[in-house]
Amino acid sequence: MADWQRMDAADARASDTSSVSVEGLSKAYGQDATLRALDDFTLEFPAGQCTVLLGPSGCGKTTVLRSIAGLITPDSGRITIGASTAFDAASGTFDPPEKRRLGMVFQSYALWPHLSVADNVGYPLSAAGMPKAEIRSRVEAMLDWVGLGGMGGRYVHELSGGQQQRVSLGRAVVGNPRAILFDEPLSNLDARLRERMRIELLGLRQRRPFTSIYVTHDQLEAMTLGDRVVVMRAGRIEQVGTPEDVYKRPRTRFAADFMGIPNLLEGTVRAIQPDGIVVDTVLGPLRTRGWRGGRSVGERCTVALRPTLMTSSPDPQGEAPFGRVIRSVFQGTSTIHMIDVAGTAITLESFSEERHADGAEVSVKPADGAVFALLDD
Ligand SMILES: Nc1ncnc2c1ncn2[C@@H]1O[C@H](COP(=O)(O)OP(=O)(O)OP(=O)(O)O)[C@@H](O)[C@H]1O
Ligand SMILES: [Mg+2]
Repeated sequence: MADWQRMDAADARASDTSSVSVEGLSKAYGQDATLRALDDFTLEFPAGQCTVLLGPSGCGKTTVLRSIAGLITPDSGRITIGASTAFDAASGTFDPPEKRRLGMVFQSYALWPHLSVADNVGYPLSAAGMPKAEIRSRVEAMLDWVGLGGMGGRYVHELSGGQQQRVSLGRAVVGNPRAILFDEPLSNLDARLRERMRIELLGLRQRRPFTSIYVTHDQLEAMTLGDRVVVMRAGRIEQVGTPEDVYKRPRTRFAADFMGIPNLLEGTVRAIQPDGIVVDTVLGPLRTRGWRGGRSVGERCTVALRPTLMTSSPDPQGEAPFGRVIRSVFQGTSTIHMIDVAGTAITLESFSEERHADGAEVSVKPADGAVFALLDD
């Protein structure tokens, strides 16, 4: 069977979107193999879902994608796409990229400048030898899907950045891939276009669910697009969960930082009580409720406080410490106050339009229940 006939057969099954499973993947670069870009990385990417990989530069996100795509060979581990083993270090199995039937969208759109929009989108089909008439009708459908209907005759340089990105999305999807790998696809776009593309991507997925593995630095993108978020650190998984899960229950300071959670206060455990732990912080003793054990008095830890569950006032509020206002910013629906308390920046959100003057002295008082997470470092 020719490649394009295989694509056709896949189409007949409506959608061929598959799960991807990665087990014990390790990859070290360099002669001495000291630098481990991936270190025993194991994860299931469920069919039809979007899994977001989030983490700092150099933590191995692109290495995961390139391993799955077949662009690099890991040192050990196994990769399964749908029912087929695409890579297995133990048995020496290695499917070349074209056999894996995956779509890829990169930060640089990697489009052909000398080809029209339609020819760019249809490129994987013509490379697979599909007849021209068939390609034409598929490409038309694909251009409609990505919102570029009627623009097939243009050249890439006649499109905006967002439109170019949609051409590269169309090209990634046209061959009916089993999964689509996204490597920071929106990071070259300005903030407003990024927001629009995020919403468009969600719409596209609702009309035709596809398995996506999506790399980003952007926490908002992760929260919006991800069915699941994977926080990575130095080639390993720091935490996995739904965006809500990881945001509400970050396990470590590292994960919380990466989710963009404000108000991570360092503290010392003062007392362990039956229903919670008391932690000394710059805001005084704070009580956490219902936390798992394994803590001891005197131990260092980090607590996360909700910006909406604190109040600031020019007047004293009981024992609450005073701080100096860095800035109060009205944001349309709420006001954000940034306040320096003993060298720690605290963020509060109040639903009044009242702002503090820069540099003013205000008391900062957490309400009961302000602490929502107790973190390891
Ligand atoms: N071809 C290579 N040769 C040597 N080292 C490499 C190579 N590719 C990646 N690395 C190293 O492997 C580690 C992981 O790189 P990777 O590109 O996966 O990171 P990343 O999480 O995608 O980072 P970024 O957010 O900056 O794109 C880094 O320390 C990087 O320097
Ligand atoms: Mg990368």
